[in-house]
Amino acid sequence: MTPPHITDLPIRALTVDDLHRCADLSEDRGWLREDHKWGLLLAAGNGYGVDAPDGRGLAAACVVTRYGGIPAGSGLAAIGMVLVADRYARQGLGRALMTHVCNDALKGVPLTLHATPHGRPLYEELGFKTTGRAEMLVGSFRKEAASDPHGAVRVRRAVAEDLPRILHLDAEVFGADRTHMVTRLPAFSDQLMVAEDSSGDGTLTGYAAAWPNMHTHVIGPLIARDTATATALVTALAGGTDRPLRTDVDVRHEELLAWLKERGLESVAFNAVMTRDIPDLPGDWTRRWAPLTVAAG
Ligand SMILES: CC(C)(COP(=O)(O)OP(=O)(O)OC[C@H]1O[C@@H](n2cnc3c(N)ncnc32)[C@H](O)[C@@H]1OP(=O)(O)O)[C@@H](O)C(=O)NCCC(=O)NCCS
Repeated sequence: MTPPHITDLPIRALTVDDLHRCADLSEDRGWLREDHKWGLLLAAGNGYGVDAPDGRGLAAACVVTRYGGIPAGSGLAAIGMVLVADRYARQGLGRALMTHVCNDALKGVPLTLHATPHGRPLYEELGFKTTGRAEMLVGSFRKEAASDPHGAVRVRRAVAEDLPRILHLDAEVFGADRTHMVTRLPAFSDQLMVAEDSSGDGTLTGYAAAWPNMHTHVIGPLIARDTATATALVTALAGGTDRPLRTDVDVRHEELLAWLKERGLESVAFNAVMTRDIPDLPGDWTRRWAPLTVAAG
């Protein structure tokens, strides 16, 4: 009997039990294993995968993180970690998986993703449009506290009582409800900082996390009222780690990008921010500087 074509194999839900198989797939494709990130995405989102017919783990995977609608918003789903094992590449598997996820599982739901140059043609074929770009920066952050003119911004570690205000600010800026993701941040990240209005009335003007990803700490989400608040948050987070930093900054935030590069971070890649069934991302891009991860928005 002829074995089924790779694109006819069943697509199944992935769970946290698939974490190692997902990390193996990342490694197979030359990406880092990123177990910690996979763990978050599989727990907070919905993973989809195809078991490899040769019995060696997964042939393909992706993860969808769904965010609820808030008043004046329609909700959103972010797709990430789209991967096909090297030995099954260019056989239509990526297309089959993404077609199922976008046209069946998430039919009618506004979608977003960050696309690598490899993924982009496929997403365009599925109706995604490029609405922006994010620049990936990595490097050791040079601490120049004395010369940083951002001392006026009050930044401190977040405490449990901050959570409702963080959620409120996040929903306003992200434009969709990501409570299930934000409430995981205190455990997922190594540092979570908030910035407060200097008036002392307790209004949050920003928040940011640094979470461990292999040898780096990723800065994200980074939500801030203005450049001074964003740089103050990054400076505070950088002060708490000796690891290189990684962050993916919306290219419209030129001042922050220049500031990060002055302090030693280097441009590694550009990803296209794409959407489908929604003309642009909801929320307020001027206060949204970097995503939690490009895989989840
Ligand atoms: C991107 C990826 C998921 C595509 O999966 P795939 O099963 O190999 O892709 P398919 O065979 O279904 O091809 C779909 C289309 O994607 C495009 N594509 C796939 N691989 C490509 C490559 N190496 N270079 C350029 N375009 C490519 C082509 O348009 C292709 O259509 P075609 O074969 O009719 O020309 C896979 O190459 C991969 O895992 N890459 C590494 C990880 C990555 O970059 N993921 C995307 C994150 S956004």
